[in-house]
Amino acid sequence: MQSFSAFSVQSLFFALISLRLAEISFCHEGFCSAPSILNAQPLYWKVTQPTLSPSHLQDLPGFTRSVYKRDHALITPESHVFSPLPDWTNTLGAYLITPSMGSHFVMYLAKVQENSKSGPPPSDVERFLFVLGGKVTLTDTSGLKHKLEVDSYAYLPPNAEHSVQSDASATLVIFERRYDYLENHTTEQIISSTNKQPLLETPGEVFELRKLLPTSLPYDFNIHIMDFQPGEFLNVKEVHYNQHGLLLLEGQGIYRLGDSWYPIQAGDTIWMAPFVPQWYAALGKTKSRYLLYKDVNRNPL
Ligand SMILES: *[C@@H]1O[C@H](CO)[C@@H](O)[C@H](O)[C@H]1NC(C)=O
Repeated sequence: MQSFSAFSVQSLFFALISLRLAEISFCHEGFCSAPSILNAQPLYWKVTQPTLSPSHLQDLPGFTRSVYKRDHALITPESHVFSPLPDWTNTLGAYLITPSMGSHFVMYLAKVQENSKSGPPPSDVERFLFVLGGKVTLTDTSGLKHKLEVDSYAYLPPNAEHSVQSDASATLVIFERRYDYLENHTTEQIISSTNKQPLLETPGEVFELRKLLPTSLPYDFNIHIMDFQPGEFLNVKEVHYNQHGLLLLEGQGIYRLGDSWYPIQAGDTIWMAPFVPQWYAALGKTKSRYLLYKDVNRNPL
């Protein structure tokens, strides 16, 4: 038995060596210069160079980082499903957060194409739009046209006639909510950009905060832009009555939602229901920036 197995190992060894030699001589005969062979990775390279790089994970059949739970959801780009947006022309939309999850708002991406035009929100619904890529032209209630480029945004009060048009492709993130009316108060149209908003105090925290809408009583939600340097994190492990829709605009890190800890990166969307424990730590080598919907100024009763 022993001599037999020694022989087997020896012959296997020689077999491998001769295979290797054959491979080398194969190359010496010039076949290696054929482009397909030149570009090919070594056999089994994925085993010897395992990687968790997101691009590899996204290629893995059936794999997604997206999750959908009772009190939170993570929607990552490989899960986006675009279809024509109702009432818009030449525009594809992907609804990422809707009331069917328990939210009182919708959050969606709109990919406008050449000669596109927006449709109006339903009546009594306010709209916030933020340009993620390209540029669009907003025509407001008074007929004035505004060019909106990346990082600019607009708030349209409920029932304010307006349209968004584009002659090239552009991407927007849009929030809409049925306005929670307060007697004797109305909201105003707002058009601005992130870099025009002042940095605000964040007592007890290290991140940089900008608010894109006024904090005054008429507004029933706000949009925060929050910046974290790598290694910075939220000090408060927040649990609160407000709900959130979040889009990570830049960077990467770990988001805690309830008892789950999610690696996230730019392009990811998060739905946070009221009272889900939430916490973020920025990682990587570049700043994290996220855009965050938060309902404010209304009695939760
Ligand atoms: C709204 O304005 C009217 C007229 O000024 C006033 O009589 C009423 O008390 C106001 N309502 C509230 C809730 O402040």
